[in-house]
Amino acid sequence: MVVFRLVDENDAKEYLDFFKAVTSESDNLASNIAEVEKLSVDDERSFIKGMNESASFSIAAFDGDRIIGSCDIRIAVRERLKHRAEMGIAVRKEYWGKGVAQSLLEKAIVEAAKRGVLKIQLTVREDNIRAKRLYIKNGFKLVGSDRMLFLIDGKYIDGEIYDLIIKQI
Ligand SMILES: CC(C)(COP(=O)(O)OP(=O)(O)OC[C@H]1O[C@@H](n2cnc3c(N)ncnc32)[C@H](O)[C@@H]1OP(=O)(O)O)[C@@H](O)C(=O)NCCC(=O)NCCS
Repeated sequence: MVVFRLVDENDAKEYLDFFKAVTSESDNLASNIAEVEKLSVDDERSFIKGMNESASFSIAAFDGDRIIGSCDIRIAVRERLKHRAEMGIAVRKEYWGKGVAQSLLEKAIVEAAKRGVLKIQLTVREDNIRAKRLYIKNGFKLVGSDRMLFLIDGKYIDGEIYDLIIKQI
């Protein structure tokens, strides 16, 4: 059974293992595996601590003790921006296509709304069809392009910007 809950500092080791796995399984994330390999469990613990000391959070899907997916919601701090958040989502490849990301996204949106977030924005590689379908299905709208988003193996890859207005004021 898959359990969904907020990530805390005690999850640092498992969260790092998960991050290494998803970074190595696709070229869709901003970090590359060499950067993630350099991180220690303490680095990860500090990252989680920092996130949880702010309004931001990460929800993870656990299969037993193992993290199989996560959705990060990074909420802006400044007064004029704190209604906005940026999102990142990833699932271990062996679990793709089973609805894990869908459940993570639904739970993250509910939690973000509770924390006062009105708008979630994200940037995705334009060729990441799987992720884009997930966003569109959940009400995200394409609002712009982000040319030269990533540089991978000497090649620039364009991105697209999507947003979701959770609550219009
Ligand atoms: C994108 C990602 C998070 C989707 O995770 P997932 O758990 O496989 O997604 P789900 O099973 O919940 O599927 C949700 C939706 O994704 C889309 N999807 C699922 N399988 C798909 C496929 N084979 N082809 C295209 N879209 C697909 C669909 O919209 C699907 O809903 P539907 O099946 O009801 O139509 C996952 O593929 C991943 O971690 N990719 C690598 C990291 C990444 O790209 N993150 C996003 C960066 S912006």
